[in-house]
Formats: sequence, C-alpha cells, structure tokens
Amino acid sequence: MELTVEEKEMLEGKQGRAVQKAMEILVTLGEIYNANKMVKVRSVQISGVSYANLGSPGLDFLRKLSEDGKVRVLTTLNPAGMDLEEWEKLGIPKDFAEKQLEVIDAFKAMGIITTATCTPYLVGNVPHYGDHVAWAESSAVAFANSVIGARTNREGGPSALAAALTGRTPMYGLHLEENRVPEVTVNFEGKLRNIFEFGVLGKAIAEKTKGKIVYIRGIEKASVDELKSFGASLATYAGIGIYHMENITPEAIKYEPPKNNLYLSQDDINSQLDSLRDENVEEIDFVTIGCPHASLEEIIKIADMLQGKKVTKEFWITTSRPIKTIADKVGLTKIIEEAGAKIAADTCCVVAPIKGRFKAMATNSAKACYYAKARNNFKVRIMSFEETVMEALK
Ligand code: F3S
Repeated sequence: MELTVEEKEMLEGKQGRAVQKAMEILVTLGEIYNANKMVKVRSVQISGVSYANLGSPGLDFLRKLSEDGKVRVLTTLNPAGMDLEEWEKLGIPKDFAEKQLEVIDAFKAMGIITTATCTPYLVGNVPHYGDHVAWAESSAVAFANSVIGARTNREGGPSALAAALTGRTPMYGLHLEENRVPEVTVNFEGKLRNIFEFGVLGKAIAEKTKGKIVYIRGIEKASVDELKSFGASLATYAGIGIYHMENITPEAIKYEPPKNNLYLSQDDINSQLDSLRDENVEEIDFVTIGCPHASLEEIIKIADMLQGKKVTKEFWITTSRPIKTIADKVGLTKIIEEAGAKIAADTCCVVAPIKGRFKAMATNSAKACYYAKARNNFKVRIMSFEETVMEALK
C-alpha cells in the first residue's frame, strides 16, 4: 500500500502506541483486500460494545489502547449490554454492569461519544452524500451507504476503532465506485402496509439474491423508519451493505436497472411472515420494539397507545440516550413507564444478557427475530408495530 508520510509515521510508532497498533490493523486489512491507499474518514461508528461480546480480553484490549489513544474524528458507539444509567430496572446483574461501565469508560477515555446506539444517523453522527466513513453495525452501514449515499465498508469493532484512532480506512470495497453498482433488479408488485413489512421484504430479497447488490423497483415512497427496518433486515439476512431503491435512494439515479430481473409479490411477503412466526408458542413473555433503535416518532406512537393502560408482559422499547432524553423531557417516558413498559436506552434485546430469561418474544423487527432465535434461543412472533404494542397489553 502506498502510505503518506504521516501514515508511515503512524505505522512506525511516532504518534504513539495506540495509533501504531491501529495503523497495523488497517494496513493488514488493506493488504488483504488489495487497497492501494488509505482514505480519510469523516466519522466512525464502533460495534462490539456489549461486555457480553467483549468479555475480559476485549476490555483489556480497550484499556491498553486508551492509555495513549485518542480518536481523530467524530466517533459514536453501538448499543451496550444494558441501559447505562438505569440498568437495574432491566434486571441486569451487578457484576455485568460494573464491567460494562468499565468498557464505556475506556471508550470515553479515547474521546469517543458514548451514545450507544445503532442509529447514529438519528442522533448527530450524520455524514453527507459522498463522505467516506468507517462504520460498524450492519444496519447503520446499509443506511449510510444506501439512504445517505456515504461510503463505508461493513467494519468490525477493531477496524472501526483503528479508523477512529487514525482518521483513516483502507480504500477498497464500498469506498470504490465500481463496487457500488447494482447487479439484480428486484421488481416488487405489492403494497407494503407497515414498517415491519419493509423488514420482511428485506428478508425476502436477501434470500433470493444471496448477497448481490440490488436495484429495487415498485416502492412508491418510504420513510426513514421504513428504510431503517428494510436495510437492517437486508443486511442481516444477506450480509449486504448497500442497496438502491428507484426514486428513493440517492445513488439509484446513476444506474440503469440491471438486466438480471427478479419478481416479488405480496405472496412472497406473506410466506416470509410465516417463517418469522414460530409454531407452538404457548405464551409470549417478552415484547420489544426498537430494532434498529426506535425513533422519536415511534416512541410518540407507543405512548399514545399505552396512555392510561397497563402492560401485562415485560415490554422493552429500545432507543438511544438522546431520544430517551427528549422523551423524558416531553413526558413520553412517564406515560410509558406508568403503563409498566420500559424505555431501555443504550441497549437492545440482542446485546443485553437476557438468554434464558424469556421463552417467546413478540417484535415488529425481522432482524430482532433472527438474533433472538440464533443467540437467545427465544421463539419469535413478528407482527406489525400496532399488534406488538397490543400484545404487551393482552
Ligand atoms: Fe440495533 Fe440491536 Fe437491532 S444493535 S439493529 S437494536 S440488534
């Protein structure tokens, strides 16, 4: 790889040990993927924040880096294993909480903004069209590349942190124009009636296109919440970091629809719904909304539906701390908590240590279904946003 004078200095350790380690990681990555240079990044989003994933080796690695490492660009964090302020209300064990807070302290010492959310683009980490960034968290990567038109590979936790400490990432993959070109046209004939059906469509496309970049036709309009659900699902089930949607995402206009066509209809949505609804669910004992993290609009809707009522099941609404803070200030949290539901900031149903606590989960998220089964062994039932809230009240 061709490195600039400054990058060579970083690699030689002239800018500190953490920067040297970070540059070693990036150069190794660049060599594996045949990058010929580094590109400066505008912002970073780091995954691998939950102590449940990091364990003590991960915490030691972060502590070491934080001895002399400081981030050079705006850097935010993915969800942690608990609400960082009110972890007790979620039933998180004290020993886990103490370790999780040490992880956060190590990130903070490096100058990272410790908003722990998978929707950094809703809370101030918002790149512009064409910006190079280094984001981890598959749903955020899909959003950045597709909806914003920024450029990022699907980073892992260490490579994203390395990018933050150096302000650079190797120029390969989705940073290059030629790797963003759609390969399959997906013609959808049907009407998506709800946010969760966008997620279900993402799964349907993922299973038929097997990791190809898609150009989707037939969607008339889509909100930010719908696109966040769609991208999360597509990224989860296909490992895709970018898609194009005709008349909706900004880069679609650059391309002719590929000649390789796939046709999907409402029937495909319906059969996917069946696959996300486990048989033999005797009783749902956990309900969650907020994968990806809930927006303010979603929290307003939930508060409207819960006003003056009482939930009968454990119900988590997972979101970012800044959105929760607004919800606190305008009285939404009070309404939700008086109904017995919990706004869980900084975390989510996948990264919190809740394996074994529940048997069956209701959610409006296709991504949450995937991980709840794979990681936590829960049975799952996907349903619409409204049905999910109603399920908590049943
Ligand atoms: Fe976010 Fe957790 Fe879902 S990180 S996308 S809420 S699995």
